[in-house]
Amino acid sequence: MRIAIGCDHAGYEYKEAIKGHLIEKGHEVSDHGTHDTSSVDYPDFVHPVSKDISDQHAHYGILICGTGNGVSMTANKYKEVRCGLCWNAEIAQLIRQHNNANIISLPARFVDIKDAIQMVDVFLSAQFEGGRHQRRIDKITSEIKFSC
Ligand code: RB5
Repeated sequence: MRIAIGCDHAGYEYKEAIKGHLIEKGHEVSDHGTHDTSSVDYPDFVHPVSKDISDQHAHYGILICGTGNGVSMTANKYKEVRCGLCWNAEIAQLIRQHNNANIISLPARFVDIKDAIQMVDVFLSAQFEGGRHQRRIDKITSEIKFSC
């Protein structure tokens, strides 16, 4: 699988560990940085990953920052992206099964590396269930109409 990965300084150590794990498993990984622990602005590393998904250059994306929130907020600005924030393996499974997420975001300051790697493995192997979940996903980008 082709996987795009990006992080800020808080996620650097996790990105390196996850990248190594994925390469070992035979995946093709596009690493969009950051490349050390110097303080950076997370959107600079989220946009290239989100573009890889939008342009279909990658099947899935992985984003890591301190809380996982800044990266997921940025990624979800892209119409084609569904990025889910995860802190355990069950959520990692559900964002695929129910939300058809194409990017997982991880909070490096709140989960350990071993669990983060497990979440990535679960995320990449779980299947979207379709059906009522597809109907709900279709409504995410539909215009909200209401009267007042
Ligand atoms: C960086 O200190 C931190 O703000 C960032 O990693 C992330 O948690 C933002 O959402």
